[in-house]
Amino acid sequence: MGILEKYGDRIQHHVSKYPDKRSAVMPLLYVVQDEYGWVTPDGIDEVAAILDMDPTQVKSIAGFYTMYSEQPKGKYWLQVCTDLACALRGADKFHEDLKAELGVEEGGTTEDGMFTVEHVMCLAACDKAPMLQCNFHFYEKLDMDKMKALLAEWRAEAAKTST
Ligand code: FES
Repeated sequence: MGILEKYGDRIQHHVSKYPDKRSAVMPLLYVVQDEYGWVTPDGIDEVAAILDMDPTQVKSIAGFYTMYSEQPKGKYWLQVCTDLACALRGADKFHEDLKAELGVEEGGTTEDGMFTVEHVMCLAACDKAPMLQCNFHFYEKLDMDKMKALLAEWRAEAAKTST
């Protein structure tokens, strides 16, 4: 079942807000990401068909914005800002330490599918570095002690929701 069959009302709500339905491309990409966990090639084709767009155009929009993932991700998608202002406040080391803690390379996902770590450009919280966003929520002024506590919290939360 495609997103149109499953989320017809939600899609219609987004499309109806704009005089040109192509303007709904970003909210529809969120629908795809919510449904599949990432922006899949089939999802891109679905959005293109719904909005009468070329799939290449839809793919280029998905590729431009860091909030869309074109790869499968872990349950918790950790995006560490390593842009200049954060780097000056220790973000590079924090990013390296986080990857080492989870045993992943850049962009990698832990074997249990829980965490994906990647670095991103400025998230506009430069004065609160090191910081990251996890599933679009900001966590700021981090160090590895705080990070380990958050990882434990998320693991516990995931264990609770999977039972
Ligand atoms: S440079 Fe990291 S949030 Fe701006």
